[in-house]
Amino acid sequence: MSEVDLLISNVNLASMIETADGQPMADYGTMSNTSMGIKGGKIHSFYPPAATLPTATTHIDGNGGWITPGLIDCHTHLVWGGNRAREFEWRLQGISYEEISRRGGGIASTVKATREASDEELKTAAQQRLNSLMAEGVTCVEIKSGYGLSLQHETRLLRIARELGNKNAVAVQTTLLAAHALPPEFSDKDSYIDEICEHIIPSIAELKLADAVDVFCEGIGFSTQQCQRVFSVAKAYNLAIKGHVEQLSDLKGSLLVAKNAGLSADHIEYLQAQDVPALKSAGTVAVLLPGAFYALKEQQLPPIAALREHAVPMAVATDLNPGTSPQASLRLAMNQACVLFGLTPQESLAGVTRDAAKALGLGHCKGQLAVGFDADLVLWDIGHPSELCYGVNLCQPREVFYLGRRR
Ligand code: NIG
Ligand code: FE
Repeated sequence: MSEVDLLISNVNLASMIETADGQPMADYGTMSNTSMGIKGGKIHSFYPPAATLPTATTHIDGNGGWITPGLIDCHTHLVWGGNRAREFEWRLQGISYEEISRRGGGIASTVKATREASDEELKTAAQQRLNSLMAEGVTCVEIKSGYGLSLQHETRLLRIARELGNKNAVAVQTTLLAAHALPPEFSDKDSYIDEICEHIIPSIAELKLADAVDVFCEGIGFSTQQCQRVFSVAKAYNLAIKGHVEQLSDLKGSLLVAKNAGLSADHIEYLQAQDVPALKSAGTVAVLLPGAFYALKEQQLPPIAALREHAVPMAVATDLNPGTSPQASLRLAMNQACVLFGLTPQESLAGVTRDAAKALGLGHCKGQLAVGFDADLVLWDIGHPSELCYGVNLCQPREVFYLGRRR
């Protein structure tokens, strides 16, 4: 019997590992001219240049390429019906996202189209979006509900998301985002929050359809008091907490997420530097969504310098959705995080590997090339990892491995 299932020799590893006290390693955690062994779907061993290599069932010559952890898109809304191309035209004419939302467009129009779509239509469209992400090297993706806004329709979206995970060689984490907008059946936000707390969360928890619960804490979404009610019930059902916070204004939703020991505070363009230490103390990850910033032509930049200063992990995700980020490319988000937010390519790569894993509560098993971690890997024909951020659609993976298996 072979010592390892898979041996990849003659490669450079951008390991993205941390030091024992949780600091990122310099220079992508690079291990040059190395070989790595995979066994039982996990990373088993590393071999320096002159080491004796183990026997392997499958042996791949890396030809001097680079291996990174599989890419992780930790914030998407990829199951929806219809599209919002007309609103794109309106925004180009100068009507703001908030104004379109107040006029009944925005999230409400996608909710209508999503409810009207058949399961088959939703599945086919979602699969195409997932295919685009997977082709770029994505091996783990978070999928939120939030375009159903009733128990029946939120359940339907989360079931479709779980099914995508079962049918594809990719890990899917699901998040209930019932508190995304007010559904048309309700005229009062507090009554809808009652419905979420009394019926939607308990049922979804019982069906085990969600790993986390998210909210849209915003003037056009829900207040911090309403979001706190959602978080309290989520915690009672042992569901992790996330928040769309400080996207369009500073309601202090990030502080609320931190107070509830949430996994991540997402968007955060309007987060104040003085509120950043609270994220650090709570272990909450800052999720940067440059695709939405780009599509809405936002001006307000997230407080990157303060996040760096306080060593808050910064994840980068697509926010793939029909309104504010119609972008099925995590590689483009990596580029945008550098160009628009000033991340270094190393920070950007950490943002879609190690720190994205943390934003999903998977930091112990995904996002780093370390012994015992899941063997989710991408082999690239590149000369340096900065190439992954520098260009748009200039290079694709040579091979992708999910849990040690070639995809
Ligand atoms: O992450 N901010 C709220 N939710 C989405 C946008 C949803 C939509 O416009 O359909 C976001 O940007
Ligand atoms: Fe979002």
